[in-house]
Amino acid sequence: MSRRKIIIDTDPGQDDAIAILLALASPDEIEVLGITTVAGNVPLELTKKNACIICELADKSEILIFAGCDRPLSRPLVTAEHVHGKTGLDGPTLPNPRMELEQQHAVDFIIETLRAEPSGTVTLCPLGPLTNIATALEKAPDITNKIAEIVLMGGAYFEVGNITPTAEFNIYVDPEAAEIVFTSGIKIVVMPLDVTHKVLVTGPRNDAFREIGTPVGIATAEMTDFFERFDKDKYGTAGAPLHDPCVIAYLIRPELFSGRHINVMIETKSDLTLGMTVADWWGVTDRPANVTFINDVNVQVFFDLLTERLSEL
Ligand code: RIB
Ligand code: CA
Repeated sequence: MSRRKIIIDTDPGQDDAIAILLALASPDEIEVLGITTVAGNVPLELTKKNACIICELADKSEILIFAGCDRPLSRPLVTAEHVHGKTGLDGPTLPNPRMELEQQHAVDFIIETLRAEPSGTVTLCPLGPLTNIATALEKAPDITNKIAEIVLMGGAYFEVGNITPTAEFNIYVDPEAAEIVFTSGIKIVVMPLDVTHKVLVTGPRNDAFREIGTPVGIATAEMTDFFERFDKDKYGTAGAPLHDPCVIAYLIRPELFSGRHINVMIETKSDLTLGMTVADWWGVTDRPANVTFINDVNVQVFFDLLTERLSEL
């Protein structure tokens, strides 16, 4: 299988961090062209720093990291310290990064990379609000047809919302950006809460991370120990949901996942349902399908893959 060239767009965030680690641990399947950071779980000042912290934890300080948009397209920023802690990476004690960010703006890196690489060879992997991606599409419409695929974490249907009764956080923070991406015509795979709420870090799975015994394994156990509180309190779940790692696991083993090719539109007007991903799961409209909406995964194989790969860093 040829290596897939990707750009990870992210708002670390413990689950983003584990997604980044999984990507960096999978060089046979994935070439990370760069990591672009965006405001989301915590402000950009922290997400850009956290991306550096995670790459150094993985001993991959050669990875190019870029700072992107520090607020949504047209709304005030909403953050999630209540889930991820004030640093965004609460849990482990990790050293301040030595590696430097690239000077280029993340949006310009996305545009220039897509223009430079052969058309249809680069996959975008957004793990946070879609502000950087939408800004790149608006600034350089010519890149639309150069993107191989967008595989993103965001949205919800049967699982409904985690930040409001109807909206998932990544979409809620920048619904206008999500609308631009979801109506772009680009091939899109969506990992909503419907599937990510199935990959829960139970006690034994957390123990397996810790038993790797390396700084990566121990930090992963400590990150998920910390960020499970929100979901355990809210949903009574058995552990932290690994939202963002679903995106990377899909790139490595797509057959672990299943869903439907359906129409999904974004609510951008109603205050009551702002950021809702209105998924026509039952095909009750004649709206054309625009995304593959994933709702199931082989959970045990997902965790076997993740644990095995993390042990290789
Ligand atoms: O709703 C979950 C998503 O919001 C994840 O990507 C998490 O990291 C936060 O960004
Ligand atoms: Ca995220």
